[in-house]
Amino acid sequence: MFLSTFIKIHIHNRKNSNKMSTMIKVETPVGEIAKNYFQTVKVFDDYQIDFCCGGKQSLQEICQNKSLNTDEVVQKLEASIQEASDAPLFDAMPLTALVEYIVTTHHAYVRENIPLLHKLLDKIEEVHGPRHPELLAVNAHFKESAGQLTMHMQKEEIVLFPLVEKLSQLKAEGKTITISGGASVEQPIAAMVQEHENEGARFEEISRLTQNYTVPEDACNTFRAAYETLQAFEKDLHRHIHLENNILFPKAALLEQEVVKKN
Ligand SMILES: [Fe+2]
Ligand SMILES: [Fe+2]
Repeated sequence: MFLSTFIKIHIHNRKNSNKMSTMIKVETPVGEIAKNYFQTVKVFDDYQIDFCCGGKQSLQEICQNKSLNTDEVVQKLEASIQEASDAPLFDAMPLTALVEYIVTTHHAYVRENIPLLHKLLDKIEEVHGPRHPELLAVNAHFKESAGQLTMHMQKEEIVLFPLVEKLSQLKAEGKTITISGGASVEQPIAAMVQEHENEGARFEEISRLTQNYTVPEDACNTFRAAYETLQAFEKDLHRHIHLENNILFPKAALLEQEVVKKN
C-alpha cells in the first residue's frame, strides 16, 4: 500500500519534470548514471554495458574498452531520459519501500522463472544437445546460478533486509543505539556484493556461450523461448543487482553510521 502510493506520487512528479534537459557526463561512473536515471538501463543493456557489478567504471572508460562510439551512447542515454517514463525514481525511495520493491518484484521474478527455465533448458539440452553441445554448459551454468541465487535471496531476506528495516525504524523514531564489537551491516553487504559478482560473471559466460542469446537456424520454438526467457532473466538480474549494489547497500551503510554508535 505504502509502496504503491509512493510510486503513484513519484510518477505524477516525474511526468511534470520530464521536460527538463539532461546532460550525461562521460566521466560519470555508469552505476551512478543508472542510479540517477533508471530509464538508461535499457540502453546499457542494448550495448551490453555492465552497470551493476562493473558500475564504478566511467562511461568514457567503458566505451573505450568496448570500442563504442561515446557520442552515440550519450545521445541514446539522453534520449532515454527524455522519453516519458513511469519508472519510479528508486534513489528517492525510502529504504523500506525499496526493500519491499526488490523482494516483490525481483526476488519474485527469479523464483517464478527458475522452474520455467529448468524445464526449457532441460528440454532443449535433451533434443538439441547432440548438435549444439554448448547447451550442456549453458544448462549447467544456469542450474548452478539458480541454486546460488535462491540461497542468496534467502540470506538477504532473513539477514540483511531485516537489518536495513531495523535501521530505518531507528531513524524514523529518531533513536540511536550503541553497540560494542565490530558487527556491522557492511559484512553481509560485502558478502552479497561478492555473490552478485559471481552471478554476474556466470551470466556473462552464458551470454558468451549463446552468442548473446542468438538462436541457431534449426531452432524450434522451445529453443527460442528458452533463450528469450534466459536473456530476460539476465536483464532482470542486472536491474536487481543495480538496485542493491548502487542504491540500497550504500544507503544502508550510511544509515548505520547515523543510528549506530560503537564503543
Ligand atoms: Fe536481491
Ligand atoms: Fe542480491
